[in-house]
Amino acid sequence: MKQGVILINAYSNHPGEMHRVKRLKEAFLPLGVTITVIPNGPNLREIEGDFCIFLDKDRYAAQTLEKKMRLFDRAEAIEVCDDKYLTYLSLEGVVPMPKTVPSLLCYTPDSPLSEELLDSVKKLGFPVVVKESFGSLGRQVYLAKDEGELVSLSRELRLKPHLYQEFIRESAGRDLRVIVVGGKAIAAMERSSKSDFRSNAELGGVCRAYPLGEEERKLCEKTAEHLKLDYCGIDLLWGREGMLLCEVNSNAFFQKFEEVTKTDVAGEYARHIYKEMY
Ligand SMILES: Nc1ncnc2c1ncn2[C@@H]1O[C@H](COP(=O)(O)OP(=O)(O)O)[C@@H](O)[C@H]1O
Ligand SMILES: [Mg+2]
Repeated sequence: MKQGVILINAYSNHPGEMHRVKRLKEAFLPLGVTITVIPNGPNLREIEGDFCIFLDKDRYAAQTLEKKMRLFDRAEAIEVCDDKYLTYLSLEGVVPMPKTVPSLLCYTPDSPLSEELLDSVKKLGFPVVVKESFGSLGRQVYLAKDEGELVSLSRELRLKPHLYQEFIRESAGRDLRVIVVGGKAIAAMERSSKSDFRSNAELGGVCRAYPLGEEERKLCEKTAEHLKLDYCGIDLLWGREGMLLCEVNSNAFFQKFEEVTKTDVAGEYARHIYKEMY
């Protein structure tokens, strides 16, 4: 019997999570693969299956399960994508990205901010984008319009890993979400917001289908290949000299994307997994 597992986060109640689990389960039916849905928990070592679609970002759980079965995405790929600066390090020199400066590890909240760090961030110009390394749905992404805001944000975030990034003006309030499955970019969706520099749909970004051009396709497929991703949602920005990679989401939600682009993301992913496994 062909048997797969979908592992979900122990605490998530996001509607996007329910949707992708349902869609993926449906997509495996015609392939004759039985899917069991399991929330992350302490008994991972007892889980049986040929493979696991790992819809969590818990790196310890991913490594534990990967000792037993093939993970989609792979544990290392999930870990690199989850951390925005690790993603940057991995793709530096591979694909174009906005200029980025990492925060410095800090254990002591009362020590003064590093002047050297502030100086290099100021060279990125204002406004400057500040992002927590771990974050999603636009919630941990900020814009500092001047030095005062930069200093207060840096103080607030200093105990958490974060990064500073050149603000891509040409793309203010607008980005392009591309989903790549099994090395192929399947479609693109433009998201735009009139009220926020962040275009995330969850923050009010309006989504519409966008014809995928060669430049975007190549950039996204190169990214997915380099990070060894079976599945991902990639955010691109329109830069002055071409498209720039903004971030990579392993296991991105795809409800809106399927609706807007009229593609069968779940089916593409299920068929890719089937081909890899059997
Ligand atoms: N360097 C940048 N310049 C301009 N806009 C940006 C930049 N980085 C992020 N954004 C905007 O903020 C949104 C959220 O940032 P992103 O890095 O994708 O984080 P998240 O994981 O929260 O989605 C992006 O979709 C984009 O609209
Ligand atoms: Mg994003």
